[in-house]
Amino acid sequence: MVPKSKRLTLSSRKSFVPIALPTPKLGRGATVSKALQNRKTTREISDRNLTLQTISNVLWAACGVNRKKGPLETTGRTAASASNSQEIDLYVLMEHGVYIYNPLRHVLLPVLKADLRPIAISSGQVGLARHAPLHLIYVADVDRLVNTSGYQEPGLHDPEYQKAYYYVDTGMIAANVYLFAASHGLAAWFHNCNRPALAAKLELRPDQRVLFGQTVGYAKKK
Ligand SMILES: Cc1cc2nc3c(=O)[nH]c(=O)nc-3n(C[C@H](O)[C@H](O)[C@H](O)COP(=O)(O)O)c2cc1C
Repeated sequence: MVPKSKRLTLSSRKSFVPIALPTPKLGRGATVSKALQNRKTTREISDRNLTLQTISNVLWAACGVNRKKGPLETTGRTAASASNSQEIDLYVLMEHGVYIYNPLRHVLLPVLKADLRPIAISSGQVGLARHAPLHLIYVADVDRLVNTSGYQEPGLHDPEYQKAYYYVDTGMIAANVYLFAASHGLAAWFHNCNRPALAAKLELRPDQRVLFGQTVGYAKKK
């Protein structure tokens, strides 16, 4: 066991460079049945740090690569997506900056060196988890949905279908995060966020849509 003082925490990092995530280790969690029994929303989340290993595990559970050969000539993921288009990006907001999760390399790529956690949750509720260590922002990349490498079914070009697909695909990932949290003693909360402010700060293209946030950490002690 690594001594507590030597464990790598993200807040101790000085430089703003890509972060290679450790190989996910999901070994000791509760069973799926137990996780289903325990799954719930916990809104009051403390500032206690998560280790890099736990962040790696959460992200892999969310939408990581679970098989090299998935459907339609691309990798398979832990979360299903319409035509396996994998159009949902997870922006990862932490105290020292914003990253985007790249599941193919299992790495965090730097986006912006700023603490955007105050706009990751709607203003009326931000106080509940403002200093939580990990905020996931779900962003749909409609271009990736339209130009998916797989079967070009007509719905992919219809804005109504696109919307249905990217909201459902978000829900698939969010459910994985909720279940992972429930099986590993973490707190998770899926919620609205300040969409216009995030889109502006992240300098998103018009065909990228900020959808929801999900905060992960440890429950505040009562
Ligand atoms: C699409 C969606 C949007 C949500 N938005 C918010 C939100 O903005 N604020 C909030 O406190 N909870 C939000 N929630 C969490 C729900 O309120 C919560 O899941 C629901 O009350 C059921 O509680 P449970 O998750 O503990 O079963 C949202 C959940 C979903 C699925």
